[in-house]
Amino acid sequence: MLEMIKILTQTFGPSGSEKKVAGVIQKMLEGKVDEMRTDTMGNLICVKKGSGKKIMLAAHMDEIGVIISYIDEKGFLRFGNIGGLPPMIILGQRVMFENGIVGVVWYEESIDNMKNAKHDTMYIDIGAGSREEAEKLVKVGDMAVFVGDTIEQHGKVISKGLDDRVGCAILVQVALSQPKTDNEIYYVFTTQEEVGLRGAKTAAFGIVPDMALAIDVCDTGDTPKCKHMSVKLGKGPTIKIKDRSVIAHPEVKDRLVKAAEQNKIPYQLEVMMDGGTDAGSIHITAGGIPSGGVSIPTRFIHDTAEMVDLNDVENAVSLISAFIK
Ligand code: CO
Ligand code: ZN
Repeated sequence: MLEMIKILTQTFGPSGSEKKVAGVIQKMLEGKVDEMRTDTMGNLICVKKGSGKKIMLAAHMDEIGVIISYIDEKGFLRFGNIGGLPPMIILGQRVMFENGIVGVVWYEESIDNMKNAKHDTMYIDIGAGSREEAEKLVKVGDMAVFVGDTIEQHGKVISKGLDDRVGCAILVQVALSQPKTDNEIYYVFTTQEEVGLRGAKTAAFGIVPDMALAIDVCDTGDTPKCKHMSVKLGKGPTIKIKDRSVIAHPEVKDRLVKAAEQNKIPYQLEVMMDGGTDAGSIHITAGGIPSGGVSIPTRFIHDTAEMVDLNDVENAVSLISAFIK
């Protein structure tokens, strides 16, 4: 799994430019599902046929990043955010464009307090000497993602882009293990989650499943002086009760709890006050779709070094496999 997570997290794919990620997943699932298609939004939909209920499992392929809005005469790039991007976190980080060009994020040093920094008072330096030179390397509208390698240490994975490539890796792993079920399983790798749960909306409308799960990351409440939350790293995948975008359907939540308990899979209940997931779009699609979520406890979400526990990842695979049966 670690190898798969490494490949997926290091593949370029900010919101709206998920093609490379979709290509990688397509290769991984070649011949392992009955059908593979992409829709207009770029969602990759992989179907394992069955005569029972239609179950949709969604994980988003897109990652956060920056988009170039302006290049000044000295060759410095101004940018906007793709997804949630706190200025304090991105300061001093490297970003990489699709063509491999790397830039450093810095700020106008007349600001005396970083808390006052906004994206508009920050810039990216790609080492160009002028606008003309810069424009040979990047253009307005180009997107870049953060640089942050993927390492494993004491059973933890530290990487950029774990949100939500770890979810993609879990879905791929479930599909590869081909759990025995009569149900029709839709492994859906969605687009544009970070900019408003957009891909999941059209994917769910195209499928109209009987039940759906979003597989994503969730915050933890186990770091120094963080906000109160009962989720801890390494104590099992979470079963979603609520995030800012959805209140999980009680039947979905109960089925997940039952699947975990019957199979002795550790789990935690998740109440996340900030942040949404694809379930937020799916549950209000068509006439309403019973939806819930399984999340991976993750520290430092949207930082260039997010952290998950591999045990939680493995247990999420087991939990989802048990659920779809
Ligand atoms: Co996110
Ligand atoms: Zn996410």
